[in-house]
Amino acid sequence: MLQLIKRCPEYVSGYRDYCKEIYDDPVALLYFRPTNPKSIDDDWFLRTKDWYDKKENGLIEGQPVSFHYWAIDKGKFIGEFQLRTEFTEKVLNDIGSIGYAVRVSEWGKGYGMEILRLGLEIAKEKGMEKVLLNINENNVASIRLCEKSGGVFYDKIKTEENEILKRYWIKLQ
Ligand SMILES: CC(C)(COP(=O)(O)OP(=O)(O)OC[C@H]1O[C@@H](n2cnc3c(N)ncnc32)[C@H](O)[C@@H]1OP(=O)(O)O)[C@@H](O)C(=O)NCCC(=O)NCCS
Repeated sequence: MLQLIKRCPEYVSGYRDYCKEIYDDPVALLYFRPTNPKSIDDDWFLRTKDWYDKKENGLIEGQPVSFHYWAIDKGKFIGEFQLRTEFTEKVLNDIGSIGYAVRVSEWGKGYGMEILRLGLEIAKEKGMEKVLLNINENNVASIRLCEKSGGVFYDKIKTEENEILKRYWIKLQ
């Protein structure tokens, strides 16, 4: 059964493998950029822990409060889920409330749907009434997943980097 867990030392090597699969796939990397796998060495978890803790507490200047989860199924690292609970200008007009990805070798098995379903539960638990998904207009897989999960198209915007994003709201009951 797929679970979303907080980052932990036990799954760092799985996280590195997942990042590598995304970095090796030019299309995936176009839509989602995790940590560069080359920087994930034995000290990486401890080196970055303080930064992730500060992000959860809104202590990184210019960054919204955000939470990072890892998706694990039967001990295997499957993907990740990121949740930003504040609607800052950057969230609204660029990164959205949610980020997710599945390792390339596990695409098309329903994991994306499950990660988003579990992630929306977390958003609800954190008191959010709605979340915003900003998706590259060419990212058919993510658009499909979002629409299947209740995403309602709002509009299209162009980012400062000239990327065209479709914005979807998902209401959480
Ligand atoms: C988007 C992503 C998370 C989907 O993960 P996944 O595990 O393959 O998705 P699922 O298997 O749960 O499929 C969900 C739906 O999308 C559809 N889908 C998946 N890949 C698709 C593709 N390439 N083209 C069209 N539809 C696709 C599936 O068929 C399914 O719909 P269905 O049940 O009606 O058939 C995955 O492709 C990914 O990690 N992409 C790179 C990172 C990314 O784009 N993140 C989102 C940034 S906004």
